[in-house]
Amino acid sequence: MPSKERDIPLRDHPAPTGPYCSFGGSLGDDDLLKTIHHHLLSFLGRDPMRAGNREIYKALAYTVRDFLIERWVKTQKDFYAHNRKRVYYLSLEFLIGRSLGNSLINLGLYDKVAGVLEQMGYDLDEVREEEEDAALGNGGLGRLAACFMDSMATLGIPAYGYGIRYEYGLFYQRLLDGFQVEHPDNWLRYGTPWEYDRPWNLYPVKFHGRVHRYHDAEGKLRHEWVDTSEVMAMANDILVPGFRNDSVINMRLWSAKASRELDLISFNRGDYVAAVQSVVESETISKVLYPSDDIREGQELRFKQQYFFVAATFQDILRRYKKQHGTDFGRFTAEIAVQLNDTHPAIAIPELMRLLLDEEGMTWEDAWGICVQTFGYTNHTLMPEALETWAVDLFHRVLPRHLEIVYEINRRFLEEVAALYPGDEERLRRMSMIDEGPVKKVRMAHLAIVGSHSTNGVAKLHTHLQKTRIFNEFYEIYPQRFNNKTNGVTQRRWLLKSNPGLAALITESIGGDWVTKLEFLRNLESLAGNRSFQRRWLAVKRQNKQRLAALIKSDCGVAVDPDSLFDVQVKRMHEYKRQLLNILHIIIHYQRLVRGERQEAPARTVVFAGKAAPSYAQAKLIIKLINSVGETINRDPRVADRLKVIFIPNYGVSLAEKIIPAADLSEQISTAGTEASGTGNMKFALNGALTIGTMDGANVEMCDEIGRENMFIFGMDADQVEAVRRDPLRTPETVYQNNQEVRAAVDAITAGEFSRGDTALFTPIVRALLSPDDPYLFLLDLEDYLRCQEEVDREFLNRTGWARKSILNVARMGKFSTDRTIREYAEEIWGIKV
Ligand code: IMP
Repeated sequence: MPSKERDIPLRDHPAPTGPYCSFGGSLGDDDLLKTIHHHLLSFLGRDPMRAGNREIYKALAYTVRDFLIERWVKTQKDFYAHNRKRVYYLSLEFLIGRSLGNSLINLGLYDKVAGVLEQMGYDLDEVREEEEDAALGNGGLGRLAACFMDSMATLGIPAYGYGIRYEYGLFYQRLLDGFQVEHPDNWLRYGTPWEYDRPWNLYPVKFHGRVHRYHDAEGKLRHEWVDTSEVMAMANDILVPGFRNDSVINMRLWSAKASRELDLISFNRGDYVAAVQSVVESETISKVLYPSDDIREGQELRFKQQYFFVAATFQDILRRYKKQHGTDFGRFTAEIAVQLNDTHPAIAIPELMRLLLDEEGMTWEDAWGICVQTFGYTNHTLMPEALETWAVDLFHRVLPRHLEIVYEINRRFLEEVAALYPGDEERLRRMSMIDEGPVKKVRMAHLAIVGSHSTNGVAKLHTHLQKTRIFNEFYEIYPQRFNNKTNGVTQRRWLLKSNPGLAALITESIGGDWVTKLEFLRNLESLAGNRSFQRRWLAVKRQNKQRLAALIKSDCGVAVDPDSLFDVQVKRMHEYKRQLLNILHIIIHYQRLVRGERQEAPARTVVFAGKAAPSYAQAKLIIKLINSVGETINRDPRVADRLKVIFIPNYGVSLAEKIIPAADLSEQISTAGTEASGTGNMKFALNGALTIGTMDGANVEMCDEIGRENMFIFGMDADQVEAVRRDPLRTPETVYQNNQEVRAAVDAITAGEFSRGDTALFTPIVRALLSPDDPYLFLLDLEDYLRCQEEVDREFLNRTGWARKSILNVARMGKFSTDRTIREYAEEIWGIKV
């Protein structure tokens, strides 16, 4: 077992020089070549003359690591030297994707490396394809965390991402007869060159046990958590470089290791196999990412994952703090800000309380003051059923002391509420951190709001709905705590890297400042009407579409026309995101074409991709329906050159980077009031796709920026959605009865036209569409969606008009950079000047 962390006094000895040791200064092609050769030979044991793309990728990754680590050490020393306030971003998910291309770009090495590889006879684009995606997240929330890391590094913020190093990331999706089949994502099978093991950053994490109460020497009541079982948390760092600023920060991801004591107990009893078994069991904590997005699964292992990473993180935070300040907690809130990415890490609130009360001996009032000032909480959902709760029984069994602390936090909070609203028992019941229903549960969102000084939504509409709907009673009590931080995306990955053609055209036209100041894209506005610029703009789009067409041919076996309208919906499969609305439009469009109508419409290629949570039967059935409809349409000669429907399997970051630059139309069609923000919507618009969307999430703000005339907005807004839910006369059934086209489409599904005559297969979908209680209002928004899609067809035929709108979309996306988002977090929540 490695020794415990030692903070060795820094020694100042000169760094050795030589071909592999220092990349501080400028770097010649020759040095680069030598270093790649060195890694091939010494680390990988390959003859440099006989290496394949995979080995070259690894050798190159190790070369880039050399650059990163030098800059990381310097950056960290700088944080110490200037005694900077640290930001800890706690997230159960970091959807990183690939690192090589991004690091090369941010380090300013991309072209140089491409040139050196070419000399060696390799193609950098091909070599990059060898990298496995680090899919340590489900969707928006995890990718946001990864974009935040890029922006925090670029802005030079002393930030650390903390999470879990899952051995298996989000499952690999295959299609079998159009059904989703999940396979394990064994991304670490061959190791990853991007992580540094930190065996000396090793902390014990306790579970189970009981609370021992006693009076200390001064007669004070103290609590001790005893008879616990223990798992060790070992740090692995993944380094994140800023854009050409020499700043490198890290994500510290914890992996579970068996505690030595645990295996020794059984071992000493002579039961060797049980000893090994217990090792395996304790290491399962960091084995696998839970594959659910916006749906709750109350498993104990997930709860343990949450506490595991929080407990390790706080030991690390306190170690770093104490190194400078000892046990004087007077400067804690001046030096530390902790952001909770959703409630997944909210157990940090009672954990910090426990540390300050039980381990540091602080009073409740002092500890609570520190706690509230330290934490900020980001809420990511509007759907009450997606808010996280944990059964009190489970909580008690796994974290008995934390449950006591939650009860005490709640008792004090409810006293406050009762004083403000005397006699209002119902309110106390609603606001309590404990749901007193048949199964008692802890409401993590209530704990997070009360235990932090800031609760933010992720788009203006989302924050407004937090204040007026889901959290309105909390807003009444703590109006100053609620604030909005509209999400963004990093343009380094989502334009510069993913769309080099468009990035080059933009830079040639307006200069490269947009890479760190996205608002500079405004300068494109004056070119929006310029014919020759429009032609070049469309030519880049066409190239991207050709590339995607080749991918579709090879992955799905279908030939698609790059001149057709690429209509794209890629995101998690979820009823509220309404892939079903899209498929209903496709069926109706198909039936019109077959009847000889809509012959003037442009040819369309409708592209879907996305994973469904393995336990989410309805979402999985929607995947099957898309594939079934696609199969029927794609082999129908009557529409052969008019319509194609494609489902690309295994959606993830790297696939998104290929699909998004090729889209003409971006489908952002959730039921208004359900999507907190969306960030896919931003990536598409930034790459020149026009959006067809509802007034939901960040679409609303995109519309404010881009102008309604440059988007395709349809459907009910959030208020109309609420009103229609209460209107007995507007039901799905009335639409079905009154609109012949809608009826024909639904009936075709029912009749088994897309399921080889199987009339039972899609019954749950038809039932959902026609249900008077359909929460997603598919049929109630369908007619306006159809109207809007016809408008899309018309506009697409006007190539100059379309190009103009596409350019204006990109020009007006300046607000949606995570650089802006992070600046707002830093200045308004974390108290850091950027
Ligand atoms: P940590 O902040 O203790 O996790 O250490 C991260 C890195 O920061 C170390 O590897 C050192 O390079 C640097 N570092 C750690 N402690 C100090 C310090 O006291 N002064 C300057 N640099 C430090």
